[in-house]
Amino acid sequence: MSKVKIAVLCSGGGTNLQAILDAQAAGNIPHGEVVLVVADSREAFALKRAESFGVETAVFDKREYPRAARESAILACLKAHGAELVVLAGFMTVLSAAFVKEYEGRILNIHPALLPSFGGVGMYGLHVHEAALARGVKVTGATVHYVTEECDGGPIIAQKAVEVMEGDTPEMLQQRVMREAEWVIYPKALEQVCKKMRGDTI
Ligand code: GRF
Repeated sequence: MSKVKIAVLCSGGGTNLQAILDAQAAGNIPHGEVVLVVADSREAFALKRAESFGVETAVFDKREYPRAARESAILACLKAHGAELVVLAGFMTVLSAAFVKEYEGRILNIHPALLPSFGGVGMYGLHVHEAALARGVKVTGATVHYVTEECDGGPIIAQKAVEVMEGDTPEMLQQRVMREAEWVIYPKALEQVCKKMRGDTI
């Protein structure tokens, strides 16, 4: 069986990418393999993480490529690498409907809340955790979902709840959600999707 070729799209730190690469190295993603990491910023630390794993990288910097040109360059790069599955991991560009259509049902994203709560336009990064704290929720978490045209609205693949603690700041909550939920469920969901793509239901 050939492994599903995965491309990971990042913009920043890349801790979710790291969790995926670590899971792959540990043999926990037997049905898939990260073949490419794409960043929309030259400074993305995710690029260093990819390089130290020997994974090929490509950069289409926001300062050099306007949005439409960036998308078509990314798409061409994904095709050139034979990417079958696109994984968004802290990627700060919202994809156009045309891009989503090209990889329909084959783009995953992770969101740092229990969707449909605290999702949608403007809900990214610390804003999500600020909103959760402002609403006074006692439980939040993370969601892995398929990407559709609707921002944060695609079918849910996996979720994990995380407790909100008394005195949490948005930064503290963000760290706990990443550690206890995001880094745990993303590699698992990825393997689940790759396995399904290869028609393996066991
Ligand atoms: C994570 O909180 C993820 O849920 C969100 O952006 C952040 C990315 O972090 N989409 P990293 O780049 O994976 O460290």
